Amino acid sequence: MNLLSAPMRWHTLVFTGALLLASCAGSDGTSTASESENETSAKAQRIAAMKQVTDQHSFARPEEARITHLDWNARVDFDARTISGTATYDIEVAEDAQRIVFDTHELAIKEVLVDGEPVEHTLGAAQPFIGQPLTVPITPATKKVAIKYTSSPGADALLWVEAQGDKPPFLFTQSQAILARTWIPVQDSPGIRFSYDADVEVPKGMMALMSAENPTETNADGRYSFRMAQPIPAYLLALAAGEVEFRSVGERCAVYAVPELIDKAAYEFAEMEQLLLAAEELYGRYAWDRYDLLILPAAFPFGGMENPRLTFATPTIIAGDRSLVALVAHELAHSWSGNLVTNSTWDDFWLNEGFTVYFEQRIMEAVYGRETSEMLATLSYQGLVDEVDAISDLNPDDTHLKLHLAGRNPDDGMTAIAYDKGYFFLRLMEETVGRERFDEWLNGYFEAYAFKGMDTERFVEYLNSTLLADDADKAAVRIEDWIYGPGLPSNCPSVSSPRFERVDATLAAWGAGDLSTADLPWEEWIYQERYRFLSNLADDTPTERMAELDAAWGIGSTGNNEVLFAWMEQAIRSNYTPTYPRVESFLIEVGRRKFLTPLYRAMKETGQMEMALDIYGKARGGYHSVATGTMDELLDWKG
Ligand code: BES
Ligand code: ZN
Repeated sequence: MNLLSAPMRWHTLVFTGALLLASCAGSDGTSTASESENETSAKAQRIAAMKQVTDQHSFARPEEARITHLDWNARVDFDARTISGTATYDIEVAEDAQRIVFDTHELAIKEVLVDGEPVEHTLGAAQPFIGQPLTVPITPATKKVAIKYTSSPGADALLWVEAQGDKPPFLFTQSQAILARTWIPVQDSPGIRFSYDADVEVPKGMMALMSAENPTETNADGRYSFRMAQPIPAYLLALAAGEVEFRSVGERCAVYAVPELIDKAAYEFAEMEQLLLAAEELYGRYAWDRYDLLILPAAFPFGGMENPRLTFATPTIIAGDRSLVALVAHELAHSWSGNLVTNSTWDDFWLNEGFTVYFEQRIMEAVYGRETSEMLATLSYQGLVDEVDAISDLNPDDTHLKLHLAGRNPDDGMTAIAYDKGYFFLRLMEETVGRERFDEWLNGYFEAYAFKGMDTERFVEYLNSTLLADDADKAAVRIEDWIYGPGLPSNCPSVSSPRFERVDATLAAWGAGDLSTADLPWEEWIYQERYRFLSNLADDTPTERMAELDAAWGIGSTGNNEVLFAWMEQAIRSNYTPTYPRVESFLIEVGRRKFLTPLYRAMKETGQMEMALDIYGKARGGYHSVATGTMDELLDWKG
């Protein structure tokens, strides 16, 4: 069955209320009704909201003219490594509008049409990170702007994974934060939302998937149609093309993966629907109909990306025992925090990620129990302390929740602060007002701001007049210190995990020679305990003892990539060379930045730059630009 065979009509989508209906009206080119007073005032409100926040990472001027719907027609060419097509936008314009401005980055613009008539467009000078503004002349009466274009073979969002042996090629996009503009001309600001339809042609034999209603079978002609009825920001535009299969794992959930992985993926993520139900139980109805997961090639630079209706994920979370599903809980949680209520600019990134880590842990607690979620919280605390330590000297302002990324690559601000300091800030509020009140408030927040942007200042106002209206609660939380202050405020909630405490004691005894390797309870430990043990080994652990662990546990062949990673980092730091071939093969196969950065950094910090550069030279061509951007700088790569 093809899910696209029964497309939903705009007007049946009632749950988003007047806002969505207003922005969809007329999106098919006909005007559905004369603009009612309600619609006019809704439009005025949206434009007023747009005026409040300026996104320094977009050239768009939404207060003059903004996109409301995209009709995308495109062809994916694996030989040329390009996407070419036409992006036709429905637009909404201010009374005196004379232009509409789009973001582009290394796109070749072929032609621009305004309501069907060719016009002269202007491409401004290229600026670092943000690309070039594309300015199109319009009038207040303009309804549609069509842009014909081709992307560049080096487009930063795209990774063209080459065929290898009997593995066919694969393409995926990664648009967050400001890379959508490298594969489609768009108003690439998280505060600007639009619905979309797409017709995409890919090589025969491949399935195309988007952040939209998706096919479940490969079409013989390589042509696919998509619809995303709910309005989304450009960073959630996503496309993948490859020889993948579909496997349902629940009423609303399925996995997509290449044939070699589809069984494993279906087993690993069999609990997706349970996570979804738990999430709805906590914070309200899921707004996107289906929640599916696409397992990408190992070169994917992230663990997961919350593309609406279809999370993109690394295959490194397939452990064989369902132990790494927290990542799915995280991306699922974004369906509320991020995809429904969206950070207005990248300076407000913590509103996406901090809320999501909090929500992720609540899902994990609901499904797997408090012990599991407290272990996650403890790891989060450790991550936070380490990150504050790492960036306090260099960029102390980057330890604030509210960031100042103007003129910088927004990627620079995407540190553990947004995630973990954000998480502990929310946890502090929960502990201050009590869980019941907090949950009620958070439900209300998601409902009140669904399909809207949120910036830190507006959030603080909302918080002050709702959850923390009481002076005593305000004083207990100290909002300003958390949001506009550095480091870790002294009222940060404390977490503890008895399991981790036992692991730490075991490690201390083993390190002191009071416990032999044979007596370590490796088999009884769950993966988090193994990870805790390995990641806290002393750097000067003698080679003989590393060899003992290696022989006793066979860590190099574990299916759990988190455990393997912790071992490899330790091996590099302790100069344990028998693991080096595994490090090399791992780094050539896997492009997940969270693993690459610490591994290459460990080589750099221990005087093993030669090895780092040798491996990087072999692996770099297979990495995504997001990963090479970070690694080039870390390793001072000159090519
Ligand atoms: N949205 C992020 C990934 C991202 C952030 C991409 C910033 C580009 C810019 C995603 O939800 C995420 O946080 N992924 C984490 C997962 C984790 C925290 C469970 C990752 O990939 O490691
Ligand atoms: Zn996230």
